[in-house]
Amino acid sequence: MEQLDGHNSEACLRAADLLCWGKNVIIPSETVYGLAGLARSDEGVAGIFRAKKRPPDNPLIVHVLGKNMAGDLAHIGGLAERLMDKFWPGPLTILLPKRDDAPLSQLVTAGLPQVALRAPSHTIFRELIAMAGPIAAPSANPSGAPSPTRPEHILANPPSHVDAFLAAGICACGLESTVVEIKEESIIIHRPGMVTKEELSAMAPTSALAPGAASASPGQRHRHYAPKASLILNQEAADQGDFYIAFGPTSHADFQLSATGDLAEAAQRLFHGLMEADRVGASKVSVAPIPEEGLGIAINERLRRAAEGGKIDVEP
Ligand code: TXA
Ligand code: MG
Repeated sequence: MEQLDGHNSEACLRAADLLCWGKNVIIPSETVYGLAGLARSDEGVAGIFRAKKRPPDNPLIVHVLGKNMAGDLAHIGGLAERLMDKFWPGPLTILLPKRDDAPLSQLVTAGLPQVALRAPSHTIFRELIAMAGPIAAPSANPSGAPSPTRPEHILANPPSHVDAFLAAGICACGLESTVVEIKEESIIIHRPGMVTKEELSAMAPTSALAPGAASASPGQRHRHYAPKASLILNQEAADQGDFYIAFGPTSHADFQLSATGDLAEAAQRLFHGLMEADRVGASKVSVAPIPEEGLGIAINERLRRAAEGGKIDVEP
């Protein structure tokens, strides 16, 4: 894996060049690191599934610069346009009917009629899209593991079959985008994320799909985010020998999500905490209660799925 410095413009050109050749590059985004391939390239997209060991029925988000590029790939209705105007560029992914003539590899949508579109705000990611065109990118973890938010997470467990890694520091959000579908002028949340239900509700009636719902995004039905250690949630204090992930003031923490109880800080540090537990070889991790409000909803969803770990069947 070729290592590239994201703050060097030559390196960014090199990354864009590799993508145009159908290669795969790990790239920074404001949410989590992504494993990128050119969305129109069968080779680029197939490479993502191979490198992540991702089930082929789990489609990929396609990243665009904004509304214009989105319009080449999907049919955009009124509410979708208002969401783009309000939340793009940023951590909102919108499921939209794919255009028949969309220049996309068929593999991107895993045979589904909708394509997932997001305009990232990260400057380097945007430069890459401007140079190469729409980019497909899931989070850069192997399927099932926590998402990488720092270069050291990638380097600790470098994926095979990836051509290059464009490193650019810590991801500002630390949690993935919110994935939404639009149905009859209302919003359905498939995956809670950095844009909260409260923010979406200000735009249109908003509901969240129940966990495991048959109509949920395929990725929501797969096992995810699990560290190697076993995880116990809602613990006010650590059991002896546990690796304790704290939230708010406490006398003992092996890892502090946010000493002041700030949910945005906790979101940014969540996956880092799970990775730290693995790095020090913890076998049992207990996590403090996180309030089920605002960003806490997305944090708790990740924690619940991480704790369920191997109990959720990985679909074929
Ligand atoms: O913040 C993010 O969203 C990051 C960065 C890199 O943009 N990406 C990311 O991708 O988290 P991934 O693949 O880890 O999660 C994408 C989710 C999955 O649950 C997937 O099933 C769903 O979006 N999804 C993608 N395309 C879809 C489609 N066409 N129809 C339904 N669900 C889709
Ligand atoms: Mg992911």
